[in-house]
Amino acid sequence: MDKRQEIEDLLKEYNQEHIIKYFDKLNKNQEEELFKQIQKIDLHQITELYNNTKRPIEFKESKIEALKYLDKAKLTKEQKTKFDDLGKQVIKNGQYAVVTMAGGQGTRLGHNGPKGTFKLDVYGKGKYLFEILVDNLKEANKEYGVIINWYIMTSKENNQETIEFLEKNNYFGYDKNFVKIFMQSELPIVDANGRLMMGKNYKIKEASDGNGGTYSSLRRSGCLTDMKEKGIKWVFIGPVDNALLKMADVTLLGMAISENVQIASKSVVKANPHEKVGVFCKMNGHPKVIEYSELPEEMAEEVDNDGELKFGESHIMCNLYTIDAIEKISKEILMYHSAFKKNSYIDENGKEIVPQQPNSYKFESFIFDAFEFFDDIAILRGKREDDFAPVKNAEGVDSPKTAKELYEKYWNKRKN
Ligand code: UD1
Repeated sequence: MDKRQEIEDLLKEYNQEHIIKYFDKLNKNQEEELFKQIQKIDLHQITELYNNTKRPIEFKESKIEALKYLDKAKLTKEQKTKFDDLGKQVIKNGQYAVVTMAGGQGTRLGHNGPKGTFKLDVYGKGKYLFEILVDNLKEANKEYGVIINWYIMTSKENNQETIEFLEKNNYFGYDKNFVKIFMQSELPIVDANGRLMMGKNYKIKEASDGNGGTYSSLRRSGCLTDMKEKGIKWVFIGPVDNALLKMADVTLLGMAISENVQIASKSVVKANPHEKVGVFCKMNGHPKVIEYSELPEEMAEEVDNDGELKFGESHIMCNLYTIDAIEKISKEILMYHSAFKKNSYIDENGKEIVPQQPNSYKFESFIFDAFEFFDDIAILRGKREDDFAPVKNAEGVDSPKTAKELYEKYWNKRKN
């Protein structure tokens, strides 16, 4: 059977025969590229993911409890010293690495480019989000006399631009030999009927598959092997968009070691029941985060006997893992979540259609869905004013304006 026939049969099997109509518009090169792409796509998986969008998310059958945590501000002096000493030792021994998830674009921010290249207007001159991360790592390096290995995850969409930006800015003075950039993977998006969509370049439209892809991408890219060869024992995975992110918190690290857990995370108290953050809980005996987009209203508002939010511990993407935990997760399949979004495409006549309303499903796995593979997690409650200044929206909450205020307040306090 010739290649074209083979591909046509495959598309028909999964109700994607509309794609065949584009074939006659393609030159030899485009055809070859498209066929190669289709063969790589797991059409069975895409069909399943689309079918799942029709099933409501329900936690009814699950036993959901609040998760215990330790409050950093309430640790005894002995506890704090013990944790800090344990944490410091690991970093000083060169056994600690950090990963930055920088696959996202600054779309919600109104920034045209990788999110890390957004400049926050702090202290007059301003600082790029990547620069703020470098400042934080350099501070830790100075304190512990090491250079922490830094792995940056980009996406197909922003990889080139990210590399050019970091090169142009000389990695903001970070030793380039300790920086590795790797790319996350993608999944096709589908229209409201589950059909693949054609992009301008006559390739099936694909998009980043969410930050849960970090683990498998670490393995696929060889970064996990690199970490193991370097003797890394603990890995911190954090976001690109928190101007107060602490990537080398020795208290968190020491607590995880002391509690003998494989995963740990820092939280802050949720600002209000409807803040757009994931919240920690225990589901059927395993640690879990329920994302804000999926949290039922009653759960969001439920209070305990003290009048505090029952699910009030926010996931701020400050996650820590043993290298064995990363290895284990990287081989597991994480669940996917879907979001209905606007995406332009090319119709069968070659005309670009730009939708005014959401028209397509994007599938993403979430970094925290891996927590369920473990029996326990150690949570350290930090302080919002020290740990969390998210840069998400162009205006209002979690905007450059609120992040600037938090950042400057924090640094003014540190300077005095
Ligand atoms: C995220 C968290 C949420 C948390 C909140 C705190 C997830 C799924 N959600 O929500 O639980 O309370 O931050 O600020 O983690 N990214 C990639 N590749 C992707 C998608 C995202 O690298 O495919 C990166 C982004 O660059 C960013 C981070 O992941 O660093 C979070 O991205 P985003 O999707 O914007 O999450 P939020 O909705 O803000």
